[in-house]
Amino acid sequence: MALRSFFVGGNWKMNGNKESLGELIGTLNTATLDENTEVVCGAPSIYLDFVRSNLDSRIGVAAQNCYKVTKGAFTGEISPAMIKDCGVDWVILGHSERRHVFGESDELIGQKVAHALESDLGVIACIGEKLEEREAGTTEEVVYNQTQVIAENVKDWGKVVLAYEPVWAIGTGKTATPDQAQEVHEKLRAWLRANVSDDVADSVRIIYGGSVTGANCRELASQEDVDGFLVGGASLKPEFVDIINAQA
Ligand code: PGA
Repeated sequence: MALRSFFVGGNWKMNGNKESLGELIGTLNTATLDENTEVVCGAPSIYLDFVRSNLDSRIGVAAQNCYKVTKGAFTGEISPAMIKDCGVDWVILGHSERRHVFGESDELIGQKVAHALESDLGVIACIGEKLEEREAGTTEEVVYNQTQVIAENVKDWGKVVLAYEPVWAIGTGKTATPDQAQEVHEKLRAWLRANVSDDVADSVRIIYGGSVTGANCRELASQEDVDGFLVGGASLKPEFVDIINAQA
C-alpha cells in the first residue's frame, strides 16, 4: 500500500465558467488538503490556461481529452504539446463519455495514450463496463480487453493512473458498493501482475469513479485496492475537499 499514494482526480466535464470555476479554485486553494493525496483537476480545454494560472501549484491540472499527434489539420482537436505548453501535466483518456457518446475506439484510445505518454503527460486511463455487460457477466472480459489495449501502448507505467469507472455508476447516483469496486480493482491488479509485471501491479494506482460523494468516499477508500477516485459531479462542489481527504 505504501507504494501507492492516494490519487483523487476531479473531472469537471463540460461544466462551469470563469466565475464558477474561479470560485471553486478559491475553495481548493484555501482548503486543508491531505498532503499524502495527489490531486488533479480535469478542466475543459478552453479553461486549461485559466485554471493552471489560478489553481495552487500543489494541485495538478488535467485535460479531458487530446489527439494522437503533435499538430496538423485536425480541426477542433488539441495536442499533448499544447496541453504541456499551458503548464498542464495530465490528460484523461478513454473516459466512457469519449467511448460511448463520441464513439472512440479502443484502438484510438490506445494511440492517444501512447502519444500523450511520449509527450511527457501523465495519463488517467479510464475503463469500465456498461450495465448490460455487467448483467451479462462479461465485466472482467470487458475491462481486461480495455486494459490490454492501454497496456500495449504504455512503456512507462510511472505516469499512468488506471481509472475503473463502471458506466452504470457514472452520473447516475448509483455508486458501486465498496465490495463491487474492490472486486474489480483486485482483479485488475492481478491482471497487471500476470500480463505486465509485479512492479507495475504493486505500484500503479487503480482509482474508482462513478457517483463518488463526500458521503460514500471513506468506505470506498478503505478498500485495499482502491487507490483513489475520479470524481465527476461532486468535484464541482466544496465536498470535493472531503473526497480528497477521504484517507486523512
Ligand atoms: P460522476 O462522474 O462522479 O458524476 O459519476 C465520474 C466520471 O465520469 O468520471
